[in-house]
Amino acid sequence: MNQNGSNGIRFFSGESIPVELHKVRIVQKLHLKPIDERLEAIHEGGYNTFQLNTKDIFLDMLTDSGTNAMSDNQVSSMLQADDAYAGSQSFYKMEAALKEVFGVEYVLPVHQGRAAENVISQTFIKKGQVIPMNYHFTTTKEHMEVNGGKVLEIYTDEALKINSDHPFKGNIDIKKFKEVIDTYGAENISFVRMEASTNLIGGQPFSIQNMREVKKLADEHGIMFVLDASLIGENAYFIKEREEEFKNTSIKDILRLMCDFADVIYFSSRKVSSTRGGGICTNNKELMLKMRDLVVLFEGFMTYGGMSVREIEAMAVGLMETLDDTVISQSPAFIKFAVDQLDKAGIPVIKPAGALGCHIDAKGFLPHVPQAEYPAGALAAALFIISGCRGMERGTISSVRDENGNDILADVELLRLAFPRRVFTLSQTMFVMDRLKWLHANRELVGGLKFIDEPKVLRFFMGHLAPTSNWPEKLVAKFKADFGDSL
Ligand code: F0G
Repeated sequence: MNQNGSNGIRFFSGESIPVELHKVRIVQKLHLKPIDERLEAIHEGGYNTFQLNTKDIFLDMLTDSGTNAMSDNQVSSMLQADDAYAGSQSFYKMEAALKEVFGVEYVLPVHQGRAAENVISQTFIKKGQVIPMNYHFTTTKEHMEVNGGKVLEIYTDEALKINSDHPFKGNIDIKKFKEVIDTYGAENISFVRMEASTNLIGGQPFSIQNMREVKKLADEHGIMFVLDASLIGENAYFIKEREEEFKNTSIKDILRLMCDFADVIYFSSRKVSSTRGGGICTNNKELMLKMRDLVVLFEGFMTYGGMSVREIEAMAVGLMETLDDTVISQSPAFIKFAVDQLDKAGIPVIKPAGALGCHIDAKGFLPHVPQAEYPAGALAAALFIISGCRGMERGTISSVRDENGNDILADVELLRLAFPRRVFTLSQTMFVMDRLKWLHANRELVGGLKFIDEPKVLRFFMGHLAPTSNWPEKLVAKFKADFGDSL
């Protein structure tokens, strides 16, 4: 695999095309419904793509979480699962895989990533403490705040730039880390957290060099280092591609190196191993024992942690497969292909291309929609209406209100189109790009949204919104005028 996302395969034509190094053996039929039915579906779903039913969706690019394609070896391993409340052999296989891939001694299984965040936050955060990190993730921040902690984002100046060629926008700004230590004192810092392939800023990686510097400072002040490894495979892949020192290092060795910096590693295995579940790992017995009681209390016995043993079997196989370049490079290669297409068409998109998905800058796409009217949410709804493709709002709707009830406007307004591993084909990718180009040409037709039903916690999941005018109907009329009876 190389920087141009072509799997090292050169084309006679000179084009850069990501060739799939797998074949499709089990398929699921999709439906592309007529535009009037799509409008009705999003209307009923309160203009919130989380509220759609997949029967109305053509390409589901909401997330890669629990939706990556599984390999034949993963699926077949599920048949061998050992059903046992305690001491299941499936768990020991997963533990062995984590030892091998992350180099860790102790494994606490949990039902998904946010369950790990719950255990870690309850165990290590004291009221009034701060938690510095490269950037928050929605559920991470919520768990930390519920436990009385305050999230401090200490990203670099490059992190939030839409158009950048910086290879490691997920890095922590070391100067800011020092300032946090000086201001709050190490004793008031629960831990420092680094999130691999930083999700909410566009799947952007950090470098090993940055990890080294963070670790050095953390050690000097006795601060614990927590690594969110949900997207660690892709981050390791970008290190190999972009950090000169590691261009000849194997993904396996890079992964081990990354994990060696951390005192505690946690992950959503809905992402990292293309299964459903999660875990917390450490080499420090004392830290493990501090967390263990909460696992038994909230998750399940120590050898399943709320997961199905079948998923645990598939996790063990999936973890080993993250060492395979052709598995780990597939999603970034497709994302790069999509980003290049959009960029060429003048559509504002986060650059450089990162992990997880292609992130469209909704503020740049819809400059006439004020941030208070949720441009990223509006763009997600508009794209669904005109294509049947479901993306995810990652902007102010995914944020919260302040104590006076005012929206805290998000740093960036993004429409995320996830590329779950090995799920979509290139022609499907090209279909979405085509519809996005049409939408961009007709962007003035898209208006804003307002909340009509707003939950207090993680409102973006269950909230209902309405358009601020009849713009969806106007958009449908223009689509029909341009595309006739095409779906
Ligand atoms: N950490 C990161 C970096 C994540 O991306 C996620 C989930 C979690 C923790 C929580 O894990 O869902 O298993 O409880 N991200 C999903 C997404 C939901 O769509 O990006 P979980």
